[in-house]
Amino acid sequence: MPTVEWNRLWSGDMLNHREGGRRGRHYGDQWGDPDVDQGLQSVRDRFLTPFVDASKTCLEIGPGGGRWTQYLLPAKHLYLVDLNPAMFAYIIERFGAPRNIDYIVTHGSDIPLVPHHSIDFAFTCGTFVHLDLELIGGYLASLRPLMKAGAHLSVQFSDKHKKASADETPASPITTLSAHRTSCVRLASRSSQSTRVPCPIQP
Ligand SMILES: C[S@@+](CC[C@H](N)C(=O)[O-])C[C@H]1O[C@@H](n2cnc3c(N)ncnc32)[C@H](O)[C@@H]1O
Repeated sequence: MPTVEWNRLWSGDMLNHREGGRRGRHYGDQWGDPDVDQGLQSVRDRFLTPFVDASKTCLEIGPGGGRWTQYLLPAKHLYLVDLNPAMFAYIIERFGAPRNIDYIVTHGSDIPLVPHHSIDFAFTCGTFVHLDLELIGGYLASLRPLMKAGAHLSVQFSDKHKKASADETPASPITTLSAHRTSCVRLASRSSQSTRVPCPIQP
């Protein structure tokens, strides 16, 4: 699986997009536009927008160019966590520096500065597919104290039941999630590399 150092290369990929080397209006469009792609629409409509409104404090891990962030903007407050601070400059420019966003640079799976018991909803899509299970576990451990009782978490990661992914590591993300006392319900899967599992964190 890609290392933390490998994941620092996304900054260059984003700069390549800015210079016209990647298709799409915004960085991330090259992986599909949730306003257009039906599969991504269902991710948005089932696992993101139902949990976001002006009363909610939300957190996104690995926002990149803001492909999913755009639907989190109505939140009362939004924390964006990324390994690459260059992504934040892109997002500030794209969305006009929204006043309800705090930007947090992680070293890999730490989430500094966010108050305990403050998050109603945490979301990540398109990021954990690039992380080792140890980092996914690290994020779940970092998130746990930050979540309010009854909060929701939507995590998308590689489907380790598929051979190419399972060959990389024998452990299952479900096992990792369970190890962090996160109860998971598999609500959907489709013929892509991902399985989406919304996970209510146990208080
Ligand atoms: C493939 S891009 C996906 C961006 C966005 N989630 C999307 O779907 O359009 C991966 C993003 O995850 C970020 N990233 C990579 N490793 C990370 C880590 N350990 N913690 C937080 N963000 C990370 C990258 O900087 C980049 O913004």
